[in-house]
Amino acid sequence: MPDTLLLTGCKQLVTMAGFAPRRGRNLSEIGAVNDGAVLVQEGRIHAAGPRARVEKLAAARRARKMDLGGRVVTPGLVDAHTHLVFAASRAAEYEQRIAGAGYEQIAKAGGGILSSVRALRAASEGQLLAAARANLSRMAAHGTTTVEAKTGYGLEFDHELRTLRLLKMLAGAQPVEIVPTLLAAHVVPPEYRGRPDGADEFVDLIVRLLLPAAALERLAEFCDVFVERGAFSVAQARRIFAAARALGLAPRLHAEQLRRTGGARLAVEVEAASVDHLDFVNAADMRALARSEVACILLPGCSFHLGLARYAPARKLVDSGAIVALATDFNPGSSPTLSLPMAMSIACTQMRMTPAEALAACTINAAYSLRRHHRIGSLEPGKDADLAVFDVSEFREIPYYFGVNHCAMTFKRGRAIHDQS
Ligand code: NIG
Ligand code: FE
Repeated sequence: MPDTLLLTGCKQLVTMAGFAPRRGRNLSEIGAVNDGAVLVQEGRIHAAGPRARVEKLAAARRARKMDLGGRVVTPGLVDAHTHLVFAASRAAEYEQRIAGAGYEQIAKAGGGILSSVRALRAASEGQLLAAARANLSRMAAHGTTTVEAKTGYGLEFDHELRTLRLLKMLAGAQPVEIVPTLLAAHVVPPEYRGRPDGADEFVDLIVRLLLPAAALERLAEFCDVFVERGAFSVAQARRIFAAARALGLAPRLHAEQLRRTGGARLAVEVEAASVDHLDFVNAADMRALARSEVACILLPGCSFHLGLARYAPARKLVDSGAIVALATDFNPGSSPTLSLPMAMSIACTQMRMTPAEALAACTINAAYSLRRHHRIGSLEPGKDADLAVFDVSEFREIPYYFGVNHCAMTFKRGRAIHDQS
């Protein structure tokens, strides 16, 4: 008899069933069912929908039963942009910023990303693993079942590869699914600064050595570049993406975060899997994105944490038909939150996304941006049984009760990985 589990007591079941990705008005089509049930077989969804129908299917299968006690059940949340592996917080910079220093000003003085680089290089493998593992389990406790994780605090051959290998170890050592991204082009490393062609020489290292090594060991699925003044230019990113593509790694970009640099157009040109941040896109960029297949991953935790007035134009992007997703950008500098419900809360109040749109943006559309929409992101027959259970009375209360974790249970492939019910 196959292992079968019937979940009932779903006061509201958000299936997110339907096509992917979701654009425009369809972003709020979340497939909510009152009094729902889910039948899980061998880690996959066998059925999800109205209780009477699912119970009928379960009767023949002698399913184990679990009553979730009248909670809200959603697809497991998908965090499509994080910098998971880092050694230490940057709480001192937080205080400097509160006193008036700017994010870029701190970076120019050798702090910012470079201070995380120094800390990561000095940290042992054991330390980094323990910290990342603890954060993954906190993410699971907030409903997250899949996490994209970038390198970018190593910035040299050995340390970037070491971070990718740590991600591979973590993927095998704990239940949250990890999607590895090489972000060697985060900023120009200290060793290459102060030389006229330093940035290009570092790009050479990425193209000639790092990308081939990561591809050979199958350590990364995606290749990211931070396109920004003080980081990398559109031309340098184009070169990196050409090399990445040839090795089977799809592009992702950090673009238009602090000013407009043309990164969003490059994303469309190279058919990137995603372009992230987008706080400074203009109307023509939005039209180009809306016509493309590129996912626009908005990261409102950044503006919130950095105390910036400007947020990405989520409303316009959604209404123009772009593929909008949400992520935490979990990192020690600009967004030290690992809670997707918190990212949803900020998206709703500061970017005027509706709760339904926000939920679709960090489930089905986030899964699409990671090329996994056929397997995760919604509760439909044949998909992985990744679920989040919230102790609220309807899905809108997930972002509404901000700053409080209401996730009672999380399931990955049918197995409870967080349970405080
Ligand atoms: O997504 N923009 C560049 N990278 C990160 C920040 C990383 C850091 O400050 O450590 C981001 O905001
Ligand atoms: Fe980031």
